[in-house]
Amino acid sequence: MKDKIIIVTGGNKGIGKAISHEFAELGAKVKVFARTIPNDLNEFVDGKTDLLSNIEFFAVDVSDFDSVAESVNKIVKSEGKIDVLVNNAGVTKDNLLMRMSPEDWDFVMDINLKGAFNCSKAVIRTMMGQRYGRIINIGSIVGTIGNPGQINYSASKAGLVGLTKSMAKELASRNILVNLIAPGYVETNMTDALNDEQKAKLVENIPLRRVANPSEIADVVVFFAHDDSKYITGQVLHVDGGLAI
Ligand SMILES: NC(=O)c1ccc[n+]([C@@H]2O[C@H](COP(=O)([O-])OP(=O)(O)OC[C@H]3O[C@@H](n4cnc5c(N)ncnc54)[C@H](O)[C@@H]3O)[C@@H](O)[C@H]2O)c1
Repeated sequence: MKDKIIIVTGGNKGIGKAISHEFAELGAKVKVFARTIPNDLNEFVDGKTDLLSNIEFFAVDVSDFDSVAESVNKIVKSEGKIDVLVNNAGVTKDNLLMRMSPEDWDFVMDINLKGAFNCSKAVIRTMMGQRYGRIINIGSIVGTIGNPGQINYSASKAGLVGLTKSMAKELASRNILVNLIAPGYVETNMTDALNDEQKAKLVENIPLRRVANPSEIADVVVFFAHDDSKYITGQVLHVDGGLAI
């Protein structure tokens, strides 16, 4: 991973933060796209200040193509290449279909699905030119199994599956591999929103009887960025403790 240029969207919190840390620890140059840049970077790296020389922040809203393109162009200008894009930024706006507003639908689609389109479109010209690239999308098992109260979120994550497979077919001849990791439940702000009863119920259905740690998702992202996975493209990998079996 040394000196690989890696964009991680939503890399300032939760799973994205774990992904950014792992790549930076491996010597990659991590470009974090986030709407806001943390005030305290020492806190962001949990005191591991040596990581800071490998991490750079860009204020980007992934739902805004111009905002994405501007930062991607800056990176290409300064680094001359982009090796890996991790489309991790994601949001929820849960409600039952009966109560979900069109705005709630659009909000989730614009970030989760269109955001991945925007970022992928912005990087592929460079990746095609260099005949090398990895795009790793972060989906969710609810894109496969569905979830009441999350029609917008699960549809956006199912959409990412189609995006992944079509991009994999379009881009394989240029040695650009596209895969999707579908996490089950992971300990982050997203799952903190659940109450204790909801959490206990959720764990009951997971064969491994626990939720994941963000680093367990980051490990798989690193695998898809690594040479060990160079014959894998267009795949959906559930990293969910067996939940979707
Ligand atoms: N936590 C889970 O249990 C879980 C399960 C399955 C999938 N996921 C997926 O993993 C990814 C990360 O989720 P998380 O749990 O770490 O959530 P999180 O809320 O901790 O982090 C989401 C990140 O996305 C960023 N983001 C949101 N909107 C953005 C925008 N418009 N532009 C740029 N960045 C934006 C946020 O700043 C944040 O860094 C998401 O795609 C989520 O859907 C999470």
